[in-house]
Amino acid sequence: MQKAKSNNIVWHQSTVSKKDRGKLFGHRAAALWFTGLSGSGKSTLAHEVEYRLFKRGCHTYVLDGDNVRHGLNRDLGFSQEDRQENIRRLAELAHLFTDAGMIVLSAFISPFRADRQKARDILEKGEFVEIFCRCNLKECEQRDPKGLYKKARAGEISEFTGISSPYEEPENPEIVVDTDSDEIDGCVNKIISCLERKNIISSLSM
Ligand SMILES: Nc1ncnc2c1ncn2[C@@H]1O[C@H](COP(=O)(O)OP(=O)(O)OP(=O)(O)O)[C@@H](O)[C@H]1O
Ligand SMILES: [Mg+2]
Repeated sequence: MQKAKSNNIVWHQSTVSKKDRGKLFGHRAAALWFTGLSGSGKSTLAHEVEYRLFKRGCHTYVLDGDNVRHGLNRDLGFSQEDRQENIRRLAELAHLFTDAGMIVLSAFISPFRADRQKARDILEKGEFVEIFCRCNLKECEQRDPKGLYKKARAGEISEFTGISSPYEEPENPEIVVDTDSDEIDGCVNKIISCLERKNIISSLSM
């Protein structure tokens, strides 16, 4: 991990532990990391899963790629270097949310394996749940919910994942959802069941 610039910073331990927060909230902290091509369904599923968890009384928040680029990361573009820094900051942000005892759902393409591994390393063991939204490029391009593929094909966007920049599929994700063949509801159920199996949420907390 990159070292801090200053030597004169000292970690101040929180008085409220994560365990205390977990007891109060009734669930464990987790970072659900949705990854996949543009149009593969990361935002759709992250928000649907959040809604289901929220209805169960869980403390949740969705970090969506474009939203974060409007503020915190507005100084970053899409070069490999900027994408790396984008993911590093987002992983640190997710870490703050999990430290606060919450279930944070991140919806970023995060195309590079090494960057996702770094994000995993920033989070505590067992808290990082990588969710691969698997969808073939043809289907993503047909969906083209933001009209970005059209622009990329027209040469108006450079370094576009899947067209002019690579997407490295996860090798060992905690969850794979096939969004080109399964309905949204089925994908959401699969994710919720996995969270129950991992005891992040209780299966009785309806
Ligand atoms: N099983 C499914 N899961 C998720 N989305 C689906 C599924 N089936 C169809 N869709 C549709 O696919 C589209 C996915 O768009 P969405 O904005 O969620 O993608 P994204 O991965 O967040 O893209 P981007 O990286 O550009 O933000 C939506 O229109 C959604 O309704
Ligand atoms: Mg999205």
